[in-house]
Amino acid sequence: MSLSALQSIPEGVVNLADFEPHAQAAMRPQDWAYLNGGAADEITLRANRAAWDRLGLRPRVLRDLSGGHTRVRLLGRELAQPVLLAPIAYQQLAHADGELASAYAAAAQGAGMVLSAQSSVAMEPVARVFANEPGSGPLWFQLYWRDDRGFMRELLQRIEQAGFEALVLTVDAPVHGARDRERRAGFKLPEHIRAVNLGGLKKPLDLQAGQSALFDGLMPRAATWAEIAWLREHSKLPLLLKGVTHPEDAVQAQGLGAAGLVVSNHGGRTLDTVPATAHLLADVRAALGADYPLLVDGGIRRGSDVLKAIALGADAVLLGRPYVHALAAAGALGVAHGLRLLRDELEIAMALCGCKTLADAGPHLLWPRGV
Ligand SMILES: Cc1cc2nc3c(=O)[nH]c(=O)nc-3n(C[C@H](O)[C@H](O)[C@H](O)COP(=O)(O)O)c2cc1C
Repeated sequence: MSLSALQSIPEGVVNLADFEPHAQAAMRPQDWAYLNGGAADEITLRANRAAWDRLGLRPRVLRDLSGGHTRVRLLGRELAQPVLLAPIAYQQLAHADGELASAYAAAAQGAGMVLSAQSSVAMEPVARVFANEPGSGPLWFQLYWRDDRGFMRELLQRIEQAGFEALVLTVDAPVHGARDRERRAGFKLPEHIRAVNLGGLKKPLDLQAGQSALFDGLMPRAATWAEIAWLREHSKLPLLLKGVTHPEDAVQAQGLGAAGLVVSNHGGRTLDTVPATAHLLADVRAALGADYPLLVDGGIRRGSDVLKAIALGADAVLLGRPYVHALAAAGALGVAHGLRLLRDELEIAMALCGCKTLADAGPHLLWPRGV
């Protein structure tokens, strides 16, 4: 699989959010509702964004910042910048090149990528893109638990063989949120787009009259803490959990040997009225201690948001919808350009806050009374 012809960046795009109207114009309305929508009243979706906006930064002046950089260490390796593309399903809805274009862009920009279990592109070509780019960030594979251990064993082997560096089990979505916007728009996956790495069929629900499809059908097959141990036994790769928001869950995951966590509310797509991740992050960091790998996502749109996330205790962030907007608007070049704009903003914010490196960021950068 190779990329289609390079597109140009739409005129007037100077930040990531500027891609959004171009993406909307390029996508079918129902696919746009799937990509941009959240659960129920979208309170969490809006809160994620608003919380980063309301956190104030405190400038520091006249420090010598020469030789500064955005590099961080994560899971034993150095990243050029603390940004990974979040796992987003079915990216061919946004662009025919799908996840392959996102991979080229991330690898070229020294950002990492978490490939969705529901990728519309095979995992092997995506892994080759990263293997062929020496300065690329880490490439991780996101999993949803499927209650079929034979299937899971084969999938884990294939992920390792392809060259992925870590597994990310998403734990906050054993059931879809009630995504009203998407349902109103009548979203349905088109025939030609599917989760090509999953193959096989999920076992059909086996319900008696009067049973709940959720509690009697789905939940007996959903992952529990016991499956964390099983996954660790059956793969050599480090296992991170994505979608943890409660400090007690974080500590339990850490105790079970998870290699790291992603504080996430799934971009407001699962349980509506979960607080913004910017509000949840510091408590999770405090519970885990200083040296444990911790990432965050949800509403990150600006380089200054990345700096705020690091100041609150994250080691790195996942970027969600905005890179898919860039993908829809301008393919691989769009995503690469969007990542470059984000990194430029991060460098500017660091310099104006007197941070030479991200190790200089901490709660002291944040203005306690907000903007
Ligand atoms: C269209 C869409 C599909 C997603 N698919 C997945 C997925 O397959 N696996 C997963 O763990 N998270 C998935 N997510 C959640 C993202 O990984 C991430 O947590 C979220 O988008 C971050 O919020 P942001 O979009 O505000 O940056 C999806 C999000 C969107 C918008």
